[in-house]
Amino acid sequence: MVKVLLCGCNGRMGRAVHNIISSEKEMEIVAGVDPFQEVVNPYPVFASIKDVDVPCDVIIDFSSSKTTDDLLDFCLKSGVPVVLCSTGLSDEQIERVNDASKSIAILRSGNMSLGVNLIVKLLGEMTGVLTEAGFDVEIVEKHHKMKMDAPSGTALMLADAVNNAAGGKYEYVYDRTERRAVRPENEIGISAVRGGSIVGDHDVIFAGQDEVITISHRAYSRALFAKGAVSAAYFLKDKKSGYYTMQDVIG
Ligand SMILES: NC(=O)c1ccc[n+]([C@@H]2O[C@H](COP(=O)([O-])OP(=O)(O)OC[C@H]3O[C@@H](n4cnc5c(N)ncnc54)[C@H](O)[C@@H]3O)[C@@H](O)[C@H]2O)c1
Repeated sequence: MVKVLLCGCNGRMGRAVHNIISSEKEMEIVAGVDPFQEVVNPYPVFASIKDVDVPCDVIIDFSSSKTTDDLLDFCLKSGVPVVLCSTGLSDEQIERVNDASKSIAILRSGNMSLGVNLIVKLLGEMTGVLTEAGFDVEIVEKHHKMKMDAPSGTALMLADAVNNAAGGKYEYVYDRTERRAVRPENEIGISAVRGGSIVGDHDVIFAGQDEVITISHRAYSRALFAKGAVSAAYFLKDKKSGYYTMQDVIG
């Protein structure tokens, strides 16, 4: 039985992960971490990762970037691998994650869904042809009004997939309100829409002279991210160290 510590267990994603693991035969949640304590859970819930004293095989984190530093301290001390799903990490935190992965196993992905990770692969193949043919790249993402960070981790992941395939030639632009000039070729515009209960929409738009190609992904429920995180936890549980992404899980 794989023993999971669920960080952010009482949030929207934490509850979705709980639902998926409830029907797993080979995995169980042995403890949770969440300062929001008003939910009754069938496992002990600690207010801080610093208080956890329950042995576990792997951590799934869907909390907040504010937790990431304490979480990394905990993993470095205990050697427990972590599936890091929280988004909005600072550059310093991303550097810390990279450093920590030299001694512990970390899987981090801005989007845990199979579909988005397949699109990342696909973008690698499409980008060369389309950008050489002069297509401009724009990304539009839409999320529910409770989302704290913008743009989404997924939008950045999609932009990185395009940029890496193009040899890093792009700059990301989030706001054009101060500019009075035509669009330069070497930029990817990333726009964020927030409203209602949208689970997560992403469009990567390749706009050419006389044609437009749009690669779209629509998330209809949080279960797809939770399923991906559970697959990632199975993948990571016995790994000793290294930096992994969902690309490693989908193979
Ligand atoms: N990678 C992905 O595929 C993916 C998908 C969805 C959401 N996310 C990210 O996961 C995170 C959580 O999303 P959500 O929609 O469930 O948010 P949420 O606000 O519903 O839940 C977050 C939970 O974390 C708890 N929390 C806050 N500080 C904590 C701490 N120090 N330790 C432990 N728990 C703490 C909160 O009390 C809350 O219950 C966000 O960063 C979100 O962007 C990632």
